[in-house]
Amino acid sequence: MVSREEMRKKLEGVLTAKRFVHSLNVMKTSMELAQKYGEDKEKAAIAGLLHDCAREIRGEELFNQCKKYHIHIDDIDRIQPELLHGQLGVEIAREHYGVEDPAILKAIRYHTTGGRDMSLLDKIVFIADSIEPNRTFPGVEELRKTAFNQMDHAVMMALDRTIKYVISKGALIHPDTIEARNYLILDKKNSIAK
Ligand SMILES: [Fe+2]
Ligand SMILES: [Fe+2]
Repeated sequence: MVSREEMRKKLEGVLTAKRFVHSLNVMKTSMELAQKYGEDKEKAAIAGLLHDCAREIRGEELFNQCKKYHIHIDDIDRIQPELLHGQLGVEIAREHYGVEDPAILKAIRYHTTGGRDMSLLDKIVFIADSIEPNRTFPGVEELRKTAFNQMDHAVMMALDRTIKYVISKGALIHPDTIEARNYLILDKKNSIAK
C-alpha cells in the first residue's frame, strides 16, 4: 500500500477540484467518527479519502473498466451508471493505490448504496459522505448531530432520505439500499430480543 500522502497526490490528479475537496472532507469526517466510535482511524482515513476514486470515470469508459474487472452490470446500473463507482472504486483502490485491506475495500464498495450487514467502518464512510462540512441539505445539522451520538439511527435517516429522494425523482431504488435498511431494523430487533 502506498502512503496516504501519495494516495492524496494521485487522487488530486484524477478528480475535479470540487470532488477532491469533498474527498478530503469525507476523510476528515470519517476520522472524527472513527475516533468517536473507537474504529481504526487510519482505515477510516483511507476509505474516506478514496471512496470516490472512480467517480470521474464516465460513459463508455466506465462500462469498459467494469468489464475489465468483471463487474456485473445489471439493468439498474445501465440506467443509473453512477451507481457503479463504488464497485469500480474497489478495483481502482486495489490496483492504483495498493489497498488490499478487505475492510477498507468493503467500505468503498458500500458507500453509495449501503448494503447488507454493514460494519462500523462501512457506516462511518457512508455517513461521512452525507455529512462532510460542505454538505448543505435540509436536515443535515440534525443528521450530523445524530451521526456522533447514534450511528445506526443516523444511517437509517440517511437511507430513508436517499429512498425518499429516489422515489420523488421516479428513479430506481438499488436493492442494496433496501437490504441495508432491512438489516439495520433486524439488527435492532435482535439486539432488543437478546
Ligand atoms: Fe460516491
Ligand atoms: Fe462522495
